[in-house]
Amino acid sequence: MARSASVHVCFACGHEEPRWAGRCPACGEWNALVEQVRPRRGAAVGAGVGAAGRRSAGAPVRPVALGDVAAGEPGRLRTGIGELDSVLGGGIVPGSLVLIGGAPGIGKSTLTTMALANLRAAGRRVLYVSAEESAAQIRLRAQRLDEPVALRIPVIADTDLQTVLATVERERPEVCVIDSVQTLHSAELASAAGSVAQVREVAGEILRVAKALEIAVLLVGHVTKDGSLAGPRVLEHLVDCVLQFEGERERTYRTVRAVKNRFGSTNEAGVFEMHDHGLVEVLDASARFVGEATHAPGSVVLCSMEGSRPLLVEVQALVSRSELVPPRRVVSGLDRNRLALVLAVLGRHGGIGLGTADVFVNVVGGVRVEDPGADLAVALAVASAVRGVSLGPPGGGGERPLACFGELGLTGELRTVAHAGRRLAEAEKFGLTPVLEPERCRTLAQALEVAVGRAGATAIAA
Ligand code: TYD
Ligand code: MG
Repeated sequence: MARSASVHVCFACGHEEPRWAGRCPACGEWNALVEQVRPRRGAAVGAGVGAAGRRSAGAPVRPVALGDVAAGEPGRLRTGIGELDSVLGGGIVPGSLVLIGGAPGIGKSTLTTMALANLRAAGRRVLYVSAEESAAQIRLRAQRLDEPVALRIPVIADTDLQTVLATVERERPEVCVIDSVQTLHSAELASAAGSVAQVREVAGEILRVAKALEIAVLLVGHVTKDGSLAGPRVLEHLVDCVLQFEGERERTYRTVRAVKNRFGSTNEAGVFEMHDHGLVEVLDASARFVGEATHAPGSVVLCSMEGSRPLLVEVQALVSRSELVPPRRVVSGLDRNRLALVLAVLGRHGGIGLGTADVFVNVVGGVRVEDPGADLAVALAVASAVRGVSLGPPGGGGERPLACFGELGLTGELRTVAHAGRRLAEAEKFGLTPVLEPERCRTLAQALEVAVGRAGATAIAA
């Protein structure tokens, strides 16, 4: 390829350079510049796919007042999976590009197959493109699902981008799944499939065809261990909607949330469970988690929010004398830095110093909590573990676990969080009132006094 036909793009910030450099001059990231096909000048979107009535590039156009722009609510294509539809904002928008990111084995292929089966059953034209598995493997998965229609999904198994695009152009599905963006390969670039250059090229070409032909595309992408989408961040700018499929592969619960959505809110989240016959929506997640809560020392129930929905989850902590310097801090389902902050506040304002103890904190069920209101639950679970006492509702509540929520400030104060009313209502539904929350206690010290009893200095558990 001629030198001028390509450009080097930083995968960290998207900056473009004519020549390769070891370090991006814009953001300073090392080894981040990747070669790319330079956009073909004058090649309008839809070129080569028979888009009729194209304007010549460069001719002026007349601006239109926003009020005169036709913009009805798009007719959505419902996937029939309630949790997925609500995360998408009511279904798939025709012609939109949806990126579904998640770790390998989380269930992306299962979810997209189920969505296509439902759409097919509703009479929609669909197409499943697999660049990852053979057609036989996809069939075996489809057989496991409780959907006889799943076997009627048209499928192709091919890794060549140009072949896939040609097939899509001929078949003209309304909804197409591309599984996955990292395994398709464009013959126009020399680099390997899954490289930044390839992923960008593949996504860009699919976008071009999808927009020109009004095909809704569900683009599957793998995420790396640290949670970012493998490949370029620029992929997120390209697409209309980014869904993140989270949870731990070994656990049964998985959540889908929108981190970007041009056609809906990013507040929604859906909870699923992996069964023998596919993913099943979990509509009563709070009931499950509360029912399974242990009520043992080190356990509290957090009144959390999953998007705009309240969710009760159990938070567990274990504290033990450490053999290591520095001691271990292990979290699952929470932000590690948030645990560090909570432990610092506990030490400074709660009289519970854990400088020589290992601390393990876990949100039960594989749910990931990104709610600042989780601070108090973490603090109380740790305090309960240190003291070796199980916690109940303030004022005595027999066998019931303690429910709480609230954000911790650096000066030891408890801060109010959004949707307090909905959190309280959810706790009430399960008989977990009164709830320990910022309206009841203004500081962490008060909350500890109420929940654990005697405040002040504490010996670290042996
Ligand atoms: P898969 O959808 O292939 O994950 P991804 O495409 O994200 O890599 O499936 C994930 C796992 O779920 C796989 O290990 C098999 C398992 N599974 C079930 O437990 N039950 C089922 O009905 C199906 C289809 C898969
Ligand atoms: Mg897969």
